[in-house]
Amino acid sequence: MKAVVYDRYGPPEVLRLEEVARPVPADDEVLVKIHTTTVNRTDSGLRSAEYFVSRFFTGLLRPKRRILGMEFAGEVEAVGAAVTEFAVGDHVFGVKGWGAHAEFVCIRDSGALAHKPAGMSFEEAAAVCDGACIALCCLRGADLREGRSIVVYGASGSVGTAAVQLARHFGAHVTAVCDTRHVELVRSLGADEVVDYLREDFTKNGKTYDVVFDAVGKHSFRRSRRSLNPGGMFIDTDLGFMSHVPLLALATRWIGDKKVVLGIARYTKKDVLFLKELIEKGEYRAVIDRRYPLEDVIEATKYVETGQKTGNVVLTVNGGRPR
Ligand SMILES: NC(=O)c1ccc[n+]([C@@H]2O[C@H](COP(=O)([O-])OP(=O)(O)OC[C@H]3O[C@@H](n4cnc5c(N)ncnc54)[C@H](OP(=O)(O)O)[C@@H]3O)[C@@H](O)[C@H]2O)c1
Repeated sequence: MKAVVYDRYGPPEVLRLEEVARPVPADDEVLVKIHTTTVNRTDSGLRSAEYFVSRFFTGLLRPKRRILGMEFAGEVEAVGAAVTEFAVGDHVFGVKGWGAHAEFVCIRDSGALAHKPAGMSFEEAAAVCDGACIALCCLRGADLREGRSIVVYGASGSVGTAAVQLARHFGAHVTAVCDTRHVELVRSLGADEVVDYLREDFTKNGKTYDVVFDAVGKHSFRRSRRSLNPGGMFIDTDLGFMSHVPLLALATRWIGDKKVVLGIARYTKKDVLFLKELIEKGEYRAVIDRRYPLEDVIEATKYVETGQKTGNVVLTVNGGRPR
């Protein structure tokens, strides 16, 4: 099969298209023929080994797994003998740690895989799971409900667009922070208030919130502490300058009444099924910025690495498939 491979850590140019063996599903696995996948920030981080610590998982000197790509949507090509939930021809979507920048991927039937939401295109379905699963993991401990308030900082990114919709679903009052060009989009996702950070600093508007969620790793507890209510929570998606966020999270467990939390992504079937349900109820949609053919993965990756994408960047495999 055709796949995008890399054999050393480095810039987007280390990626190249190659013919590789098609994976064979184990007894408990599903082989998915991929129509659409995405390039996300984790793909970039693993490829560049921006944080050296990631090499402990991906290979110290060179990548152990040659194919990146986490999210995908496509159809079931084959199933292992023990698979009962999926059958050949089913339309599915999901996410796993690697392997989706290819024509086929194998995933356990118990993994983060579900039937594609009714009425959703393959392009949209591929762009659902990563940002939304990260946002869910980050927001889970924040006790979001009616009467609680949250600021989503970086509301126009993949995690941010997901967080606005999820916080709204949970009933919280959502203040979204983004730049001028994204104000209307973010409002359409359900934000109660939108702050254009090019015109206003939310930390200086005199208001306080129960939760500040930095969905793009560009804010800080230091800057937003005074905007938090007593008992408030600052949630980060990033390790921060010199990886200080985990230490701050530890320290604020014991010191002060405002907490710092570092969200760690986990991808589960339960969360994918939850998202499918929200999508089918019309309460969640994937925001797509640009689409590229798989062959243009380097160009797509360079765009993702500008840090300025709106929502998600999709790759189509063999031309994709609309529905
Ligand atoms: N915790 C985990 O397990 C995990 C896993 C993967 C990724 N991450 C992290 O999750 C974060 C978000 O990833 P993502 O894919 O959602 O990001 P993204 O889509 O690349 O975010 C880009 C968006 O953020 C906006 N933005 C950029 N700078 C901003 C600023 N200073 N203030 C407000 N908005 C700004 C950009 O619009 P404008 O520039 O036009 O404002 C753009 O729309 C990253 O920090 C990434 O490292 C965490």
